[in-house]
Amino acid sequence: MKKVITDFDLEGKKVIIRCDFNVPIENGIILDDNRIKESLATIKYALDNNAKIILLSHLGRIKSEEDKKNNTLKPVADRLSLLLGKEVIFINETRGLVLENAINNMNLGDIILVQNTRYEDYPDNKESSNDMELGKYWASLGDIFINDAFGTAHRAHASNVGISSNIPSGIGFLVSKELDMLGNLLDNPKSPYVAIMGGAKMKDKIKVMDKLIEKADYILLGGGIANTFLVAEKIDVKASVYDEESVEHAKMLMSRYKNKIILPLDGYGSKEYKDGLEVYYSDVNNIKDGVMMLDLGPKTLELYKKYLVNCNTVFWNGPIGVNYFKNFEYGTKTLCEILKNINAKVVVGGGDSAAAVISLGYKDDFDHISTGGGASLEFIEGKELPGIKFIDNK
Ligand code: 3PG
Repeated sequence: MKKVITDFDLEGKKVIIRCDFNVPIENGIILDDNRIKESLATIKYALDNNAKIILLSHLGRIKSEEDKKNNTLKPVADRLSLLLGKEVIFINETRGLVLENAINNMNLGDIILVQNTRYEDYPDNKESSNDMELGKYWASLGDIFINDAFGTAHRAHASNVGISSNIPSGIGFLVSKELDMLGNLLDNPKSPYVAIMGGAKMKDKIKVMDKLIEKADYILLGGGIANTFLVAEKIDVKASVYDEESVEHAKMLMSRYKNKIILPLDGYGSKEYKDGLEVYYSDVNNIKDGVMMLDLGPKTLELYKKYLVNCNTVFWNGPIGVNYFKNFEYGTKTLCEILKNINAKVVVGGGDSAAAVISLGYKDDFDHISTGGGASLEFIEGKELPGIKFIDNK
């Protein structure tokens, strides 16, 4: 068992909390602050326990001075201040005297957000290569390290593994919840257990799929992954996206698990990957020439509902339609409505499916929406996440 924040006496201590504030920002405007909101419980706990709080996070990928300008964490500091109702002091440095003085002058309950840890990646990749000196340096700024950045847990970087190798460390409430919720899907999901898988490229998710297929009673498919299986079943998907390289794997899975893998019956498509054009509806075995399927249809949703109404556990990973096009949000919305109204424990994987659920307004209707894209996939695959591996055990 990993140590958690509640295992430490935080009173008067400098507590470094690694968050994942890697959120979409355009022209200084935060487009989705879910990850920021999800980090509040841990920050508030440290506040309530009279700690001095030093927040670290990466944002984007930094390969040039230009990238630095476009990936400052300043908007996150402003949003955090608003959400906490308390000033979050932003330090526009990742090391040096300004940062050290600011930390030395902190009062109990002060919060500092340090500039994007990946500024250290330019020019010599120090953060992402888990440079030992950098990890040690950041560790020297605090007394206790709390990793609450689940989205980054699949990376072995200086700001997670590097720090936890040097000072006492534990996980925060967000990481703890993610491990419980996702771990439960691997260890003892209550059956009937239905997985829903979508997304464009099956190749990226083969290992996840192999794992889910062992655990779940049924897998309902959408998106490019569904098309790949339709091709494996010798259905002509016309201009729809599918993953040529994975057709053989899909055939193998169909031959072994035909009764578990449920494919779409119908869908909506378009002749271009655009919103607002003519919409073509058809059964999957009757798609018009030149049409790409961009959403599931009503017969499919009716069929999928039959599997979902009586199940006890659902894990949904990957978009089943292009929900950010108004013309093609039907399937995702309908699926969200079905999931909202069943009694099952519903967990949504991070990344695009999480973004879809949140943007359509269903954030509070499910048991858990993971904040980890790659991290949640690697966890479900059964990989050990380095960001957590190096945290102290109880
Ligand atoms: C994510 O958004 O998946 C995490 O923050 C990790 O980001 P990265 O893929 O840039 O390491």
